[in-house]
Amino acid sequence: MAVSFRAPEFNRDLCAKESLNFFVLSDTDRSVIKRYGVYDAQNDCAQRVTFLLDKNGFIRRIVRQVNPATHGKDLVELVRRWQLGESIYRDLCARCHGADGNATDLYPNTKPLGGIGNRMGDDEIVKATIASGFVHEMVLRKEEWQALAVFVSGLPLLTGDKHDARP
Ligand code: HEC
Repeated sequence: MAVSFRAPEFNRDLCAKESLNFFVLSDTDRSVIKRYGVYDAQNDCAQRVTFLLDKNGFIRRIVRQVNPATHGKDLVELVRRWQLGESIYRDLCARCHGADGNATDLYPNTKPLGGIGNRMGDDEIVKATIASGFVHEMVLRKEEWQALAVFVSGLPLLTGDKHDARP
């Protein structure tokens, strides 16, 4: 769905005119825009940013470079990679790091991966994974490493030890 600062009537007309097949929500008081940290105070509107959320409402990926001409296609490609990354993660990583990346009791000295996307970019995540020495570089192709990084960078930062409670 999209979130816009404009009135519902405006967004309704926009959806009809452009034949949009997704919701355009009206955030006229800018409260959602501000909570997501994308308020452009100078122009009193939202910056163009896309958030990929999971079913539990966790933000898994933030896309700040939005090209309106290709954004639909770009998002489909991002989700495809994310899903590939998820299946690789389940096959190769979850037995030590847990399904949600926050397990520290499945293997000795494991570090939680939740929130890693806040401190490392995708390439750094790949390097850190290879450097840790548990999965050899040759096991995956370049595209697979990139897809894995997309998924791992969005692992949620959880507090407490309920690492099996969430996907
Ligand atoms: C056999 C258990 C095991 C497997 C399998 C494993 N890891 Fe790890 N991983 C660890 C341990 C233990 C550490 C901590 C190593 C250290 O401190 O040197 C670690 C560290 C890391 C780090 C560095 C974290 C940081 O904060 O610096 C990343 C990133 C990582 N693993 C990602 C992955 C990914 C992605 C996979 C799957 C491709 C994976 N690991 C598979 C056990 C494992």
